[in-house]
Amino acid sequence: MQNGKIFIKTFGCQMNEYDSNRIYDSVSKLGFVKTNNQSNADCYILNTCHIRDKAKEKVYHEIGRVKKLYRDKKKPIMVVAGCVAQAENEEMLKREPYIDIVLGPQSYHKVNDLLKNYIRNLKHDVTEFDTISKFGYFDQIKNKNNKISAFLTIQEGCDKFCHFCVVPYTRGPEYSRPFYKVIAEAEQLIENGAKEITLLGQNVNAYSYTENSKEFRISNLINHLNQYSELDRIRYTTSHPRDMTDDLLECYSTTNKLMPFVHLPIQSGSNKMLELMNRKHTVDEYLKIYERLKKINEEIEFSSDFIVGYPGETQKDFEDTFNLIKKIKFINSFSFIFSPRPGTKASKLKMIDKNISKERLKLIQKELFNNQKEINRSMENQIIDVLVENRMEKQSKLFGRNKYITPVIFDACDSNIGKIVKVKIQTSNQNTLFGSVDKNMKAA
Ligand code: SAM
Ligand code: SF4
Ligand code: F3S
Repeated sequence: MQNGKIFIKTFGCQMNEYDSNRIYDSVSKLGFVKTNNQSNADCYILNTCHIRDKAKEKVYHEIGRVKKLYRDKKKPIMVVAGCVAQAENEEMLKREPYIDIVLGPQSYHKVNDLLKNYIRNLKHDVTEFDTISKFGYFDQIKNKNNKISAFLTIQEGCDKFCHFCVVPYTRGPEYSRPFYKVIAEAEQLIENGAKEITLLGQNVNAYSYTENSKEFRISNLINHLNQYSELDRIRYTTSHPRDMTDDLLECYSTTNKLMPFVHLPIQSGSNKMLELMNRKHTVDEYLKIYERLKKINEEIEFSSDFIVGYPGETQKDFEDTFNLIKKIKFINSFSFIFSPRPGTKASKLKMIDKNISKERLKLIQKELFNNQKEINRSMENQIIDVLVENRMEKQSKLFGRNKYITPVIFDACDSNIGKIVKVKIQTSNQNTLFGSVDKNMKAA
């Protein structure tokens, strides 16, 4: 469709964001052009997330909204992609005739053919697990993402089967992309102007690719990327405590571009809960990783994910989580009330009282948010290194991030975009640091 406009609305994790960008790269071969105007598209893709709450209902609600937007216009080709599409597949086509194509995350290599067929008036549900073909296909298409901070998926899927989680069902088994294909794509991103690359995977540190009897781990990728002079920063997310192997920990002392920030979900501070959740690690093992990394570099800070109100969680279990949060002053974190997901083991368990869960969430969030505010406040009047990403929409300020991924908003001119600059922090709130750049200042 020459000059057809395509709009993708993305929910969920960074891997969905990466996938949406790769879909844009793919459909551009059909002549589709990306638009940011959601009410004027020829093709509208909802890239969905199934991790919590009423994910399915939210999708139907979104489709209702799109219907309204296009009431007096030509209907766009309506595609539901992502993890809800994978979980619901043809059910969605039956329930909502407005949907034309249902496309699971491992079938994105088929998007161009599906759109061509749609134009020939066929409805489609494609939700097979076919990760190699997906990446085999995308390896042939240049990654055109030209962001200063770019995502790069190196691993997909999960074999760990935590009892609460849908990811193994929506993303399929663990798959690691070939080492040299990842490097080739990283080089494209660097050529496009990336100064920071975040390696992505549902279990990113489980990355393992073997070629000619040599195993490549995420540490090999980090060490390799560290050599590119045009690249300033390397990050990775999301990691699992069980895969924090020695070679990865070593990268924190042998490389200078790996940021001193580790997002390492623990979910609960109670061993009993970790076992009930089938997390396959203990609190002590987590603390050991924390201590070893702090020994390597005291500046390393942690963030985490927590689930409260998981079936079987007693007041004592909750207090264990609360005490862990007090002990490790997480720099930021995500915390959720357990949400039963269809098809998972935990969905069959007896829920604990909703009000107790709500109260527990309130208590840990208060503690987590206070930590966050305190850490941000401690940066006031300091001069810090910020990688400048862009000018903020409709504002005169620039946007960047410090080494801990905290957003920084500050006054400076556009020539700083893509550079690491020294910013003097003046004020802060829970999520953001505010300041201004000064050429004469030296970073702390
Ligand atoms: N693979 C990562 C790990 O093992 O930590 C996390 C992946 S998941 C996309 C992100 C987070 O969502 C999890 O760490 C967990 O805290 C939360 N989550 C997953 N399933 C959930 C559920 N059923 N209810 C509440 N939170 C959930
Ligand atoms: Fe989900 Fe657990 Fe796999 Fe993370 S490790 S994606 S929480 S099943
Ligand atoms: Fe959501 Fe799927 Fe990511 S369920 S968090 S979009 S892997």
